[in-house]
Amino acid sequence: MASLLRGRGITKSFGGLLALDRVDLEVGAGEVVGLIGQNGAGKTTLINAITGVHRPDAGSITFDGQELTRLAPDRIARLGIARTFQIPQPFPTLTILENAMVALVFGPRASGLAEAEARARTILESVGLGGKADLPPDHLNIVELRKLELARALASGARLLLLDEINAGLTAAEIQEAIALIEGLRRQGLAILMVEHVMRVILRVCERIIVLHFGRKIAEGTPREIAGDPAVITAYLGARRAAGGGDRAGR
Ligand SMILES: Nc1ncnc2c1ncn2[C@@H]1O[C@H](COP(=O)(O)OP(=O)(O)OP(=O)(O)O)[C@@H](O)[C@H]1O
Ligand SMILES: [Mg+2]
Repeated sequence: MASLLRGRGITKSFGGLLALDRVDLEVGAGEVVGLIGQNGAGKTTLINAITGVHRPDAGSITFDGQELTRLAPDRIARLGIARTFQIPQPFPTLTILENAMVALVFGPRASGLAEAEARARTILESVGLGGKADLPPDHLNIVELRKLELARALASGARLLLLDEINAGLTAAEIQEAIALIEGLRRQGLAILMVEHVMRVILRVCERIIVLHFGRKIAEGTPREIAGDPAVITAYLGARRAAGGGDRAGR
């Protein structure tokens, strides 16, 4: 598969802490890739490096062949990369509908207000927030706020979505809905790099999984390969099981 996103040797330190250590990654057009690892493994830092929030100290990141590491976050977004934030960041004074409309009205594929509203309502419906469109975001619980993050990312019309733990804290029934939602996005041809602690989601929807451990990529493979990889079990999966970490324990 032709790679849409390609990272080579991505390295990022914070003071003496090596948060990313020569990480390579590829996401093909329309591919769903999982990114897992313990708390502090560097997952969000990798998303921040791709989106221009943190400029890597070394390495290269290209999207459709274009180097990203010297571009500002808004330029990177305009190329067709959208992300969600692990801590939701809605505009508090806008309604949920208006939050979803912002990227449609001001984003790379700007549309008129009526068209933007119709599209935003469709997107909110698709993530399960249709009934709350006209409320302010402080009416949403944390699970719903993450859905709003996803709606805003979808509204940008991006070709690559970077999802940072949008499924944390879901019930079993909600996990089924989340799986269906991601599978729907994949059918639309979106490429997705998803950080996720909910292993049921990761193992079901991802074609490939990348495992980070203290900033280093320690494994990469299909869900089956990763679930049976001794190094991954030692570094991540086993530790979660020992701690009683089921799906609900995912942060
Ligand atoms: N802006 C920052 N300044 C200093 N240290 C940072 C910064 N951002 C991240 N770190 C550190 O880098 C390491 C990787 O953090 P990161 O947030 O990428 O982890 P993560 O894999 O997303 O973890 P979690 O599962 O808890 O979200 C951690 O040790 C963290 O404390
Ligand atoms: Mg994180």
